[in-house]
Amino acid sequence: MVDVDKVLDDAGLSNEAVRDYVKHWAEHLQPDRIEVVSAADDSRLIEEALAAGEIQPAGEGLYYSRSYSKDTARSEERTIVATSREEDKGVYNNWRHSDEIRPIVEGHMKGAFAGKTMYVIPYLMAPPGSPSEKYAAGVEITDNRTVCLHMIRMARVGIDLINNLAEPDHFVRAVHVTGDLPNLGQGTPEDKRYFVTVADERTILHFGSSYGGNALLGKIAHGLRQAAYDGWRSREFLSEQFMLLGIKDKETGKQWHVCGGFPSASGKTNLAMTLAPDALGDRYHVSFYGDDIAWLWVDPDSGELMGLNPENGVFGVAKDTNEKTNPTALDSIAPGSQALFTNVAYNDQTHEVWWEGKTPERPADTAGWIDWKGERIADRSPDEAGDPWAHPNSRFTTSLANVPNVAADYNDPKGVRIDAIIFGGRTRDREPLVRAITDLAEGVYDGLTLGAEATFAAEGVEGKLRYDPMSMRPFMSYAEGPYAQHWLDIVGAAKHQPIFAHVNWFQRDAGDGHFLWPGYRENLRALLWLCQFKDGEVTGRQTAVGVIPTEDELGMEGLDLPQADLDRILDIDIERWREEMGHRQEHLEQFPNLPEEIWVAHRRVAEALDQA
Ligand code: GTP
Ligand code: MN
Ligand code: MN
Repeated sequence: MVDVDKVLDDAGLSNEAVRDYVKHWAEHLQPDRIEVVSAADDSRLIEEALAAGEIQPAGEGLYYSRSYSKDTARSEERTIVATSREEDKGVYNNWRHSDEIRPIVEGHMKGAFAGKTMYVIPYLMAPPGSPSEKYAAGVEITDNRTVCLHMIRMARVGIDLINNLAEPDHFVRAVHVTGDLPNLGQGTPEDKRYFVTVADERTILHFGSSYGGNALLGKIAHGLRQAAYDGWRSREFLSEQFMLLGIKDKETGKQWHVCGGFPSASGKTNLAMTLAPDALGDRYHVSFYGDDIAWLWVDPDSGELMGLNPENGVFGVAKDTNEKTNPTALDSIAPGSQALFTNVAYNDQTHEVWWEGKTPERPADTAGWIDWKGERIADRSPDEAGDPWAHPNSRFTTSLANVPNVAADYNDPKGVRIDAIIFGGRTRDREPLVRAITDLAEGVYDGLTLGAEATFAAEGVEGKLRYDPMSMRPFMSYAEGPYAQHWLDIVGAAKHQPIFAHVNWFQRDAGDGHFLWPGYRENLRALLWLCQFKDGEVTGRQTAVGVIPTEDELGMEGLDLPQADLDRILDIDIERWREEMGHRQEHLEQFPNLPEEIWVAHRRVAEALDQA
């Protein structure tokens, strides 16, 4: 048995509550060794992981790793929110009583670290000193060195952060056990994986994965699920799967901050990172704050709605990332950035990485190339020849500081004022490029009825449409009715109301299926219109479902679109919308205690469509 006190003394970990937690879990998990991790340990951990073959070199200061082939995405069915309060049960949170589930997952974890090192990772989600710092502290325990490397990039990691907490006992207890991956029955009735957030005990217990979304517990499990629960129970803040960016008009000095949610794999990282100010005559500067999580609250002094990104890094989808779609992402994973690649294709002779859409064609010479399953491309049979080389959900991990246009104040604990909140999904028809909504309840209603085609980031069938309220469906930690009310309460308390909007970069031609809008860097045009609309500089065109830009207002200089495509994305299909209202009605009826304001908004939109 390891002498835990000695390890913690040597590491300088003095927080008594954290020490008790580490001792408790050391007893349960029975590791051979314990190590406390700080960001300063990164280069040593990299060397060790390279030597152990857990990661491979992928160019100067770049690394590649592969997760087990049945462990490449979040598993929504195996993800559970547990509490001791039946009223926390929602439609999407997969609620179970903690008394029932906790012993099961703890049973799986018993003795699981025998022969292994237990890494203890003290971290903060949110910069130190933020109003929500109280909810930002956590200590992840893991048996996986690659998880440490990811956590160092994605969160603020260090012993000092946890020694100096204002409330030493107020930290999230986050336990990750990789498990025996080839023998967990992933996706079968005997599935042994459990990804449990015991929200009212602020304890996260994840068993049976080493993939990012399941294993980096600071990010989704704490940063989203636990934080959403904490924000609701304290009535203090919202935590959402939102990107956050800033736009500055260099001519007038005006500045806007836009945040918003798109379901997983629907364009948050791309939007936040890669808007193209140069395409519009260099008048605008766009800055990056965050690409996946935002915490929102009302500042008690100024009364303004504020937001910040609690993360310290980007865990981005690799697929289709290239010089044209997202040059900023490529810059932030350039040689020397210490970026990690997961489940991309890898060349073990040249140490290159590749993913679908990185270049128009696959590398011509297959020598040395290995696909995401670890199989040699050169050994593929003819019927496997067309299979993707990289997993569609392969990812890159890099720190915010590597993003070339990261905002100067991204680390500011005060956060930034939120001017606009946008929702968007992959919708092949019906949804125009952008429609602005000025009313709070209608904005929240729009978020609650957000829908998207399923993607590979969650296990599911691609192409099938499903509702994903506020892009939080996989991350909901309490019931949807109170969630909607909490939204109305928090945003409603702000002195200046943000504008809401629904955006859609993914409308397709009904014939050949091409995207009607070029998307990516051009999406700035839609956001600029929204900011101008908010400030009363343009008026748009009122429709039953919000205000849509006119062609002149959108600003099409330098962009050549077929007129028919432009007409389609700047119009709404009344018939399709009327059909949609029936689906929305059914969707919302699932949620008990939905605030009456939301139903009023629904009926108002339905009536406007009837009269259109
Ligand atoms: P998570 O990180 O899983 O939450 O997803 P995300 O919302 O950050 O999605 P991301 O930006 O990584 O985009 C996912 C996929 O959508 C990528 O393959 C992108 O290339 C593609 N995509 C993003 N923006 C656009 C766009 O404007 N137009 C089109 N056609 N595709 C886009
Ligand atoms: Mn996400
Ligand atoms: Mn992303």
